[in-house]
Amino acid sequence: MDNFEFYSPTYFVFGKNTEEKAGELVKKFGGSKVLVHFGGGSVVRSGLLDRVCDSLRKENIEYVKLGGVMPNPRSSLVYEGIELCRKENVDFILAVGGGSTIDSAKAIALGAVYDGDFWDYFGGGTVTNSLPIGTVLTIAAAGSEGSPNTVITHENGMYKRSTKGDCLRPKFSILNPELTTTLPAFQSASGITDIVAHLYERYLTNTKDVEVTDRLIEALLLTMKSEAPKVIENPKDYEARANIMWAGMLAHNNMCGVGRSQDWNSHSFEHELSALYDCAHGAGLAVAMPAVLRYVVKKDVMRFAKVANRVWGCDMDFDNPERTAIAGIDALQNFFISIGMPKNFEELGAKEEDIDYLVETLCCSPERNGYIEGYVKLDKEDCKNIYRLML
Ligand code: NZQ
Ligand code: ZN
Repeated sequence: MDNFEFYSPTYFVFGKNTEEKAGELVKKFGGSKVLVHFGGGSVVRSGLLDRVCDSLRKENIEYVKLGGVMPNPRSSLVYEGIELCRKENVDFILAVGGGSTIDSAKAIALGAVYDGDFWDYFGGGTVTNSLPIGTVLTIAAAGSEGSPNTVITHENGMYKRSTKGDCLRPKFSILNPELTTTLPAFQSASGITDIVAHLYERYLTNTKDVEVTDRLIEALLLTMKSEAPKVIENPKDYEARANIMWAGMLAHNNMCGVGRSQDWNSHSFEHELSALYDCAHGAGLAVAMPAVLRYVVKKDVMRFAKVANRVWGCDMDFDNPERTAIAGIDALQNFFISIGMPKNFEELGAKEEDIDYLVETLCCSPERNGYIEGYVKLDKEDCKNIYRLML
């Protein structure tokens, strides 16, 4: 196991009606003038935004509102939010929504206290200063409620890039599984896929002897495998929603990733797809991840065979472990398909003729030097081959 430092100070409040505590929690963490940030309207329609604002008023906390975050959040709204925070002397940002809203809030939070362009941080560097943020989560997916990351698409070039910093971990996150029962089945499935992908990105490691984190990842994958079909079958299944919501946080606050190298190449392939086609992040991953795994399976077949056997129940073929490894990737892809995710470019709405462009933006943006580096280092030819596997 590698040396590591792990600091994950978010205060979690989990369960029914917990959004009523938003005002109390903002006060506890020192907020007095709040930017309430939200998405395209689901929280208005469900009445959640009103309930959250009521709880702020109950604590005599002033607030301004900024809605309109799109899935795959854009830079223009971040610039607007930064201006608004400065004009209104905002000292706390409360994100009410999904990963896109939380990521937009994090970008505003870092930009509001930075003299330069907030985008300077995206593509390298660690953020060390930001306004504090809190979240009221409405979809189990990105894990941004406990992560130090934010992912934004810059409209100038449509680059989708990320940055990170422990100061971007929310001060508190409110997780009420009931809030996720209004999700359309496709969004629930996209979120489930993203959670599973966050676990696989960590499972693919070049670090030896990481049994404790391997076992944690396997436990969370088994949970996703058993609970996902329940919420697709019955969107109001509170217990299944609750298990998935907490698994989504545990999958991505990095407790499963400490002390080991990680992959993240599937995410890089996907970010180009959602930047170009504006597809749901999870749907893009359902297409990208099996292709990436098939391409790199030979690097360490026993690692792939282990997850195939322990999670997907594939027979361990000791004479030909590659057979088990590939059966495990097939099982993963069939799981994605079974919950309604696309399996190829066509179903995702992607186009074969765009592959050269996708490879260019993937490998040749200013901070990358003709390749991407994760579990396996991939050059432009490899990336092209992998996109072709998605056809
Ligand atoms: O915008 P509204 O109207 O709220 O609708 C949203 C949106 O259309 C809707 N929705 C959310 N909660 C709902 C709901 N509809 C009905 N009922 C509810 N309870 O769902 C749609 C998707 O929302 P979004 O916030 O985009 O989903 P998600 O949480 O999957 O976030 C995706 C973004 O997170 C990034 C992705 O790249 C993508 O941009 N990621 C962020 C990470 C991080 N910060 O650590 C890591 C991830 O790997 C990921 O890259
Ligand atoms: Zn993800």
